[in-house]
Amino acid sequence: MAPTPARLWRSRPARLTAVAALVLGAGVVALTTGARTAPAPMGEVLPVPVSVRPAADASYTLPPDAVVHTEAGSAEAAKVGAYLAGLLRPSTGYALPVVQDGEGRGVSLLLTGADPVVGSQGYRLDVTGEAVVIRARTGAGLFNGVQTLRQLLPPKVESPTAVPGPWTVRGGRIVDYPRFPYRGAMLDVARHFLPVETVKRYIDRIALYKINHLHLHLSDDQGWRIAVDSRPRLAAYGGRTQVGGGPGGHYTKAQYREIVDHAARRYVTVVPEIDLPGHTNAALASYAELNCDGRARPPYTGTDVGFSSLCTTKEEVHTFVKDVLGEVAALTPGPYLHIGGDEARATPTARYAAFMNRVQPMVAATGKTVVGWHQIGEPGVRHQEGRVLQYWGRTGSDPLVAEAVARGARVVMSPANRAYLDMKYDPETVPGQKWAGYVEVRDAYDWDPGSHLEGVPASAVLGVEAPLWTEAISTEEEIEYMAFPRLPAVAELGWSPGATHDWAAFARRLGAQGPRWAVMGIDFHRSPQVSWDEQGD
Ligand code: ACM
Repeated sequence: MAPTPARLWRSRPARLTAVAALVLGAGVVALTTGARTAPAPMGEVLPVPVSVRPAADASYTLPPDAVVHTEAGSAEAAKVGAYLAGLLRPSTGYALPVVQDGEGRGVSLLLTGADPVVGSQGYRLDVTGEAVVIRARTGAGLFNGVQTLRQLLPPKVESPTAVPGPWTVRGGRIVDYPRFPYRGAMLDVARHFLPVETVKRYIDRIALYKINHLHLHLSDDQGWRIAVDSRPRLAAYGGRTQVGGGPGGHYTKAQYREIVDHAARRYVTVVPEIDLPGHTNAALASYAELNCDGRARPPYTGTDVGFSSLCTTKEEVHTFVKDVLGEVAALTPGPYLHIGGDEARATPTARYAAFMNRVQPMVAATGKTVVGWHQIGEPGVRHQEGRVLQYWGRTGSDPLVAEAVARGARVVMSPANRAYLDMKYDPETVPGQKWAGYVEVRDAYDWDPGSHLEGVPASAVLGVEAPLWTEAISTEEEIEYMAFPRLPAVAELGWSPGATHDWAAFARRLGAQGPRWAVMGIDFHRSPQVSWDEQGD
């Protein structure tokens, strides 16, 4: 389905309110009703922390001469300190120098030795009348602590221009760490190409909710989006189309590195996907020899799936795949390489298995871990050490996935009827699709990744991911509208302990994010399932 050109934005007032807040500064408080002027209660954070002990009588207000202190001698802590100061400077207007001198007045980011409680991604946050101290074992842990501190500060802290304080945080102690190591978001940059700046802003937004992987769907029938030196026509020709016939586009290697570096500074790992052997029309159009009949396919700008396949029995196709995966792996510092594997309906079953049994070891030879949509669990496809299946089905039972898990596979949970951000919220939603049903925010939240699939125990779940396909989505505004508020719901399932799962409590914390999104200029879906806080100070 081609996207409708003219769109109605029910949440447009949110953006106008944000603009008004920025223009009027403190004056907006008097103009809005129900404004939240008090600092957030400690623990009103999303994802909800593991443990929160408020100190009712204490709070800390950032003074104009506050300093960000970081662990002496640690470049990693200094990097997170610079990120924190960069977050706080625009709205506070404070200088916030970053000093590598350990603990001091202001905000301190300290590295600890072994901390078996918080592990490699967790942190401890202490707020007293004198200071804020974040302690973690790693830079990633400090970064996660910074995201919590950010949410404990008033929503106006997100303002791109200086606004009046006070910048007060309630006192107490938080000890926090993730339930699952992998919390992901996916952008389909193939159906509609997305500019580098859009991808970077999405990374900034997902990091606020402690999402630490960005999966980029880099190739599909409608376009090829990454430059490959050994096969230049993939990007130069195969990148020139997209759904609906627009100009498409691709990332040069330098641009891809720019995305990867931007992500790394936010402790987000990029997971590149080259979808094989189906979803390959853009490649089949670019290189005739990839087709069994040796004839290049015409470019495709529709939205059908399942009609294309590399000619998996040709030796030159294997050389092609090896070259492409080698170049993409070399550009990617993260441990994962995603090979798609979904909806290969145009590839005979036996050929599919034989192909994947050659491709998986190719990925391993690049030093990467294989990730694929859960169809790589088809019988006949061998287990590859460490491999990860991304489950996108709609049922609570899938014998193929359970069998793959029994052979040692791990699973990233992305059930389409829960975690697909391109599904419409309800019949009124303009962008997106509905083949997996309507997915309101409660649908996105009310499931448990650790027990969702029969035969897939929590111990086999690497984490969760919220994919956003772009057959019927093409602008950043639409992406934001579809991701918020469902993306934070999936983020919480991936981070917070299962025992904290509680729709009412989640909905309250989610509603409190509304003013923050308004200040950030995020055009979110004002779900009727949630009571949204009004724009405050
Ligand atoms: C998929 O939605 N085809 C993975």
